[in-house]
Amino acid sequence: MKRIVIVGTQWGDEGKGKITDYLAQKVDVVCRYQGGNNAGHTVIFDQKKHSLHLLPSGILNPKITNVMANGMVINPKAFVDEIKKIDDFKLAISNRAHVVLPFHSELDKAYESKKEHKIGTTHKGIGPAYTDKAARIGMRVSTFVHPERFYEKLMKMVEQKNEELHAFGCPLLDGQSIYDEYQAYAKVMAPYVIDTSVLLNQAINDDQKILFEGAQGVLLCLDHGTYPYVTSSSPTAASVPVNTGVAPWLIDGAIGVTKAYTTRVGEGPMPSEIFGELAHSIRIKGNEFGTTTGRPRRIGWLDTVILRHTKRVSGLTYLAVTLLDILSGVDTLKIVTHYEFEGEIIDYIPSDIEDFESCKPITIDMPGWHEDITGVTSFDELPDAAKHYLNQLSHLVGVEIAIFSVGPDRNQTISMKDVF
Ligand code: GDP
Ligand code: IMO
Ligand code: MG
Repeated sequence: MKRIVIVGTQWGDEGKGKITDYLAQKVDVVCRYQGGNNAGHTVIFDQKKHSLHLLPSGILNPKITNVMANGMVINPKAFVDEIKKIDDFKLAISNRAHVVLPFHSELDKAYESKKEHKIGTTHKGIGPAYTDKAARIGMRVSTFVHPERFYEKLMKMVEQKNEELHAFGCPLLDGQSIYDEYQAYAKVMAPYVIDTSVLLNQAINDDQKILFEGAQGVLLCLDHGTYPYVTSSSPTAASVPVNTGVAPWLIDGAIGVTKAYTTRVGEGPMPSEIFGELAHSIRIKGNEFGTTTGRPRRIGWLDTVILRHTKRVSGLTYLAVTLLDILSGVDTLKIVTHYEFEGEIIDYIPSDIEDFESCKPITIDMPGWHEDITGVTSFDELPDAAKHYLNQLSHLVGVEIAIFSVGPDRNQTISMKDVF
């Protein structure tokens, strides 16, 4: 395969950043295709930890080109904060991506505060920015980096958004001070802004290898996720063409990044959720606290109903299983195979959230292992129970495992199959 999509198969934080960075060493281009700085991707190598939010996770490989595609929503202030920490990089930003401005974050907080059922958003303004895009009142990057057009459009937007903020009883924003501050960010972004669809299609014509990096996870997809407890974009492989300007038939396959268990941050049902001492110890051992908000992540058993759902709606050629090391020491591991819903055994996710909330997990027990596996370098070195767990996971999802990971460092990644 030459053009591969990296997809989060669960509710985000599966280790996509780590897997993207690992595979980026073998490609020419890494392209982030949706979301914004609601994402948090941790990459560790050479004893150094990098936290990325907006920048593609290939940005730490100075030889390759990184693309922020049209499907993204970019907060210019967050962008400038992030890019100044990187020394040497090659980057292109789509002129058709949308910009997240201060009123988007303020409205995100205001909407959440008034909602009876809160989504638990990251408060980064992602929903309001995509809302403006869909309502055809948003601002593209090409306008943002054009001083006069930016000024004109910003003043109109501030006037309109202040009416909304006023209705929520929030403090109003001053257009001129936003302009003065953001004009400086526009100057930093401008040199990177191009039509990235042209760049990507040229790379394909030149037979280059491209990784399309999804943020979030398929269960947070606006269409195929656990609506309304979702984000406002589509993290599926199926959304890559529209979010990048590359034809669907030019994409060869997708790697679904899957945690060896399940986590979720924010509200919404999670049938495999576990509580108490075991959940607490997995949370501490796996450092399961959000990179973006620091919130503790909810912990659950591996749920193969959601993984088969992801496989169907997104397409998965291979799996990359992460955080296997965190399960060492658990006597008996459970895997969710089906749900019980209204007295029946089902193998799907109901559309209405009230129905999904009433799904009860049906599980099988798997023997655990106690050995420390953080130093293994091949499948054969794993304890039998860990091999059995991976084989069962692959069997239940019906997708081959190409990569597994036994620690956060780049070199704690084991490739079982060459995906290129
Ligand atoms: P992403 O949003 O999908 O990129 O994932 P995050 O970076 O938000 O969360 C994954 C967390 O798990 C990060 O802290 C990674 O450093 C860490 N991580 C990734 N793979 C492994 C692994 O195999 N073992 C351990 N212990 N940690 C891992
Ligand atoms: P990465 O790329 C986990 C969740 C939020 C909330 C919902 C909507 O690191 O996997 P939003 O701010 O997008 O409107 O919030 O989506 N969420 C994530 N959860 N990982 C992420 O990204 C997430 N991005 C958004 O917690 O429940
Ligand atoms: Mg994350």
